[in-house]
Amino acid sequence: MDETRQRMLEIYTTSENSNDPLSWFEELYCSSRRDRSLIPWDWMEPHPFLVEWIEENHHTGRALVVGSGLGEDAAFLNEKGWEVTAFDVSESAVEWASQLHKGKEIDWLVGDLVKPEESWKGAFDLVLEVHILQAIPKKIRNAAYTNLSSFLERHGLLVCIGRLADGPEEDIEAPPWPLSREFIHQIGEGLSEVEFHTAVIPDKEEVRYRAVWKRD
Ligand SMILES: C[S@@+](CC[C@H](N)C(=O)[O-])C[C@H]1O[C@@H](n2cnc3c(N)ncnc32)[C@H](O)[C@@H]1O
Repeated sequence: MDETRQRMLEIYTTSENSNDPLSWFEELYCSSRRDRSLIPWDWMEPHPFLVEWIEENHHTGRALVVGSGLGEDAAFLNEKGWEVTAFDVSESAVEWASQLHKGKEIDWLVGDLVKPEESWKGAFDLVLEVHILQAIPKKIRNAAYTNLSSFLERHGLLVCIGRLADGPEEDIEAPPWPLSREFIHQIGEGLSEVEFHTAVIPDKEEVRYRAVWKRD
């Protein structure tokens, strides 16, 4: 196992018995002191599934980036003409992302998908979630995913990207937890399915999915 993942696991383990199962994200970002090599999920570029989807779908409007991390996807959408609001549960991640993408007109906010802002309800043409649900412990994952579709405006699109489990979800000790098809299909309940795409990204071993739904 590489050192970055080992460090992440140590930080994650300390939070396992705390009252706040998401607190380890702040600890990881804060203790990294703006060294990107210490953030195991930082690809330093927008997700290839997002880039591919945007190339094929020339929409613009208001976008909400959920769990924006160091902001590469938010910055990419902004460059493509979207009016972007990006939030993350970690204050250090939000400050770091806004610094990295200084000069871009993005609304960077600290926020929690489990307890979202009332004002986001029905307010967005695009809601994007990349590798978030798979990083949220199972015990609160349901409380998180059920909020995603509520942010959509009429005809708005929900795009979820993550790791696909090879069958039912397994009991894996630490994140990421690949998601089963059954769970992913629940995310879009009440919406119309537009796409369910799976592929292995070059240089990454796991199968990933991109699921897209539309609010009618
Ligand atoms: C695996 S990282 C992915 C970050 C980013 N989307 C990317 O692809 O690089 C998961 C991110 O979700 C954030 N996060 C976890 N739970 C969250 C929640 N309930 N609400 C908002 N952000 C959350 C973490 O702080 C972290 O930045």
